[in-house]
Amino acid sequence: MTADTRRILVIGIGAGDPDHLTLAAVKAMRRADVFFVIGKGEEKSGLTDLRRDMLDEHVPGPYRVVEAEDPWRDRTPQDRSRYASAVDDWRRRRADVYERLIREELAPGEHGAFLVWGDPSLYDSTLAILDDIRGRDTVAFEHEVIPGVSSVSALAARHRIPLNQVGRPVHITPARHLADRVGEGPAETLPDDGDVVVMLDAHQTFTRFTGGDLWIYWGAYLGTPDELLVCGPVSEVADRILEVRAEARARHGWIMDTYLLRHHG
Ligand SMILES: C[S@@+](CC[C@H](N)C(=O)[O-])C[C@H]1O[C@@H](n2cnc3c(N)ncnc32)[C@H](O)[C@@H]1O
Repeated sequence: MTADTRRILVIGIGAGDPDHLTLAAVKAMRRADVFFVIGKGEEKSGLTDLRRDMLDEHVPGPYRVVEAEDPWRDRTPQDRSRYASAVDDWRRRRADVYERLIREELAPGEHGAFLVWGDPSLYDSTLAILDDIRGRDTVAFEHEVIPGVSSVSALAARHRIPLNQVGRPVHITPARHLADRVGEGPAETLPDDGDVVVMLDAHQTFTRFTGGDLWIYWGAYLGTPDELLVCGPVSEVADRILEVRAEARARHGWIMDTYLLRHHG
């Protein structure tokens, strides 16, 4: 690495609570010359505001903010292979945007930062996209990752539970994968090979599990003033979650929720 190498900082900023920003994240933010902010559209502008507030509070400056629009992504319901190719296609176009930002907006020797929601290692495309750009050999850069508090850690903390039961595994899955695993229609319960954290659930997959031994620890807008928490046996609280979730989603125009499904034998 030489003095004129472009450097990218991928900084986890926590999943909603500004106090979850780590000291390492603040130090990294202060090293950045440029912050790249990828817009997610009107409905999630609150998330962009949160990033701006963090910069105002922790970075004395001077720094630049460069905004870019997130490329359009086909979100129409699809089978597994069409879904994978829609995601691939969107990632490629996102990589085009990131590549242009690094090449045109970051001078050799400067530090550019991506402020990543939660932890960059968990269901976030930034690291894969940077690898893709490196493979293109069009712009040289080094990158560094600063971990953040994930929504999964925030969920466990707010419900005051450990993620795993003693000596047992815990799985983290996108809802789509869980739904594929249990197939069509209601399922009595999950195979008891550990507890399951479910993310990215647009279809309330938990309602498929009707058996009495499965508990849900559900959280939405974790760490924000709008936070919602519900827990109990799925068979007893599923309707309440559906109601609370629908009302909150209508009011805010968007929702992010995560939950743990736990066998209480
Ligand atoms: C693209 S993933 C990003 C995950 C993020 N990297 C992390 O570490 O939490 C988005 C999913 O994370 C979860 N999520 C992120 N922030 C959340 C929050 N504040 N409250 C509840 N769930 C959240 C939701 O399941 C959402 O669908």
